[in-house]
Amino acid sequence: MIQSHERILKTSGKPTCYSGHVLGVGERLKDENRPKEDSDFVKVNVPGDKSITQRVLILASLASGESRLSGLLHGGDVESTAEALRSLGVGLPSIPTDGSEIRITGVGLNGLRSPSKNLDLGNSGTGARLLLGVLAGSQIEATLVGDASLQSRPMRRVCEPLHLMGARLEHLGEEGRIPIRVDSAPPLRSIDWLSPVPSAQVKSAILFAGLVGGAKAVVTETLQSRDHTERLFAEIGVPLSIQEIPSGHQVELSLPPDIIDPLDFSVPGDVSSAAFIIAFVALGGTGLSVTIDNVSLNPTRTGFLDVFSRMGTDLTIEKATSEDTCEPKGSIATSPSKLHGTEVNIREVPAVIDELPLIAVMGACSEGRTIIRGADELRLKESDRIHSLVQNLKALGVGVMEHEDGLEIEGAGRPLKGQVRAFGDHRIAMAFGVLAKLEGAHIEIDDPTLSDISFPGFWEVLNKLTQAA
Ligand code: S3P
Repeated sequence: MIQSHERILKTSGKPTCYSGHVLGVGERLKDENRPKEDSDFVKVNVPGDKSITQRVLILASLASGESRLSGLLHGGDVESTAEALRSLGVGLPSIPTDGSEIRITGVGLNGLRSPSKNLDLGNSGTGARLLLGVLAGSQIEATLVGDASLQSRPMRRVCEPLHLMGARLEHLGEEGRIPIRVDSAPPLRSIDWLSPVPSAQVKSAILFAGLVGGAKAVVTETLQSRDHTERLFAEIGVPLSIQEIPSGHQVELSLPPDIIDPLDFSVPGDVSSAAFIIAFVALGGTGLSVTIDNVSLNPTRTGFLDVFSRMGTDLTIEKATSEDTCEPKGSIATSPSKLHGTEVNIREVPAVIDELPLIAVMGACSEGRTIIRGADELRLKESDRIHSLVQNLKALGVGVMEHEDGLEIEGAGRPLKGQVRAFGDHRIAMAFGVLAKLEGAHIEIDDPTLSDISFPGFWEVLNKLTQAA
């Protein structure tokens, strides 16, 4: 239960947070309830966090006992992971569309069964990589497949350390890509892995393999990636030691337990989904000020707030002080703002990785130049996001320069017009969706429904905000 609010950051402008009743999207406060400073003010909810949802579903499946989970994302990636867990013998109910609670009886760390069909992870890189770790440590046989985008994504970064741990993985197609068959392996060996890329999926796959396979696992990253797995491990009674060492950020699972506790957990809203709404408001897509409540404020995810703030976004962030969750959460309020370009550097990239497409399109509507460098990982996401952004921005007549590790964007200073492609990538579809809904813009997106992968209701929220303005 949220007990009190602690203001943690206020970047500019008047206080805009109002902790009165929660309005539906587009619903305005009645006159007597309006906050003193702002007459136009709405609250928006975003669906549950995709990264956390996938992890809690896996951990609840492996627990000994009954977990109670609420606030789960009902999106394409989560459906893929949930269906794979069902095929592995977990009695997982359907994921509610309204965030209501479900109960999951875990099968225990050694309770997964070999599936009778391939595990189709669809578009989900997180689902595929985390389950590779789980399967590597299980004494079962399974084959992971996925859609065209997932088949093109690098799996060597996960397979290599798992292989060193003794996992038996066979690439059925191209080396280092899905489809991958996992065979029953002897007990796993311990590993001390220096990850060549800061990737939470790699780190988590190794930690999951150690947990399920009963092996000590140490992972060091030069820059820290998102830490949901570490926080949730602590929640289920699996202590990790975490320290900064000269080569980077180190996480150690030294004593994998025989059983893990069930979870009683409410997933906060996805701050990466909130980012699209914040950008839309800041760019003047609605004349309203907006607050998004109950959203994840995990510092390994909120790097974009610093970048947005540097660009001139009016932000007020309030952290909820709560004793019932291992994941920080709170509210973010924002208003239409005058934006200018900024520079994002390599040290910032891990905490802002999923929002870089959005920062690039915001740059197209800001004054001056926006520079994103040190972000070569963008080429390995659901699409080559540097290529997708450069092609689309050019198609809209925006001045853009491509680098191997990023891009530079010249603010266009006018509403944008043209046709863009989503390249099968939900975040590219939504980033250009934000631009498309700005006043005066005429942008056609080839596959807008891709937003359902991570943010079902995305278009409805933008439409309602536009109409309410
Ligand atoms: C994720 C980690 C990130 C992120 C992805 C979700 C996760 O990928 O881009 O959307 O849930 O662990 P990497 O681990 O490859 O950086």
